[in-house]
Amino acid sequence: MAFCNNGLCMVLLVSVMVKSSLMVAYGGNFYQDSDITWGDQRAKVFNGGQLLSLSLDKTSGSGFRSKKEYLFGRIDMQLKLVAGNSAGTVTTYYLSSEGLTHDEIDFEFLGNLTGDPYIVHTNVFTQGKGNREQQFYLWFDPTKNFHTYSVIWIPHHIIFLVDNTPIRVFKNGESIGVPFPKNQPMRIYSSLWNADDWATRGGLVKTDWTKAPFTAYYRNFNVQTCSGTCSTSSFSSAAWQSQELDAYSRRRLRWVQKNFMIYNYCTDFKRFPQGFPPECRL
Ligand SMILES: *[C@@H]1O[C@H](CO)[C@@H](O)[C@H](O)[C@H]1NC(C)=O
Repeated sequence: MAFCNNGLCMVLLVSVMVKSSLMVAYGGNFYQDSDITWGDQRAKVFNGGQLLSLSLDKTSGSGFRSKKEYLFGRIDMQLKLVAGNSAGTVTTYYLSSEGLTHDEIDFEFLGNLTGDPYIVHTNVFTQGKGNREQQFYLWFDPTKNFHTYSVIWIPHHIIFLVDNTPIRVFKNGESIGVPFPKNQPMRIYSSLWNADDWATRGGLVKTDWTKAPFTAYYRNFNVQTCSGTCSTSSFSSAAWQSQELDAYSRRRLRWVQKNFMIYNYCTDFKRFPQGFPPECRL
């Protein structure tokens, strides 16, 4: 059952009604929930807060971040990426805490020449340390329509999803000495900037400034959090809090990893001649 009222939407499964107080869900409004942090008028909010655009020109890119911080939750955002020749541009959408030993969960979208595939670059930083890249092509053109990019972050794991298909799972490896983000609340950030020194074919293809400004669009920002601890006491109150992917999601994850994954640090022998990082065994 779903009901909406004044932009506040809550989706409650009748069967878990009793437990619903453990979960807080709302549809985001960019006016109320985000701050433009960079690029002045290059970032714009439209449609009463439902749509946001970022743009990049030769002088500057732009960015925004959530007003609130979150500790665990499910974050969904719909993005329509820079269309046409987007080579050299990078659109980011990530969660991050602050400080030297910050945690971070990253989606970055590396643009390309018209008709050539974007790369979705993912990374996880824990206690200030990243170097955990995985990259993917997408199974659709991300510039034609909005698609949903999500992060599920619970104490058991972090899952990256595209249109509800899991593309990456980062498991909690504390039992084997790998720090996991669990104490530092994170904000949601997004930006569009020029990275033509590395983004497209490793920096070979430069940004074509005659095509500027470059624009990416955001809508349907949604955050669901667990009030309280977001751990075993509440894991059954919503499917996303489950510690297990269902059989269908596991099949989809394997399908993506087999057909669309183009880089995985856990298989990069050249980079880790002394042995892979411990979490690669999980
Ligand atoms: C751009 O297209 C080329 C050629 O298809 C491909 O090798 C590359 O991975 C694509 N993406 C980026 C971001 O360079």
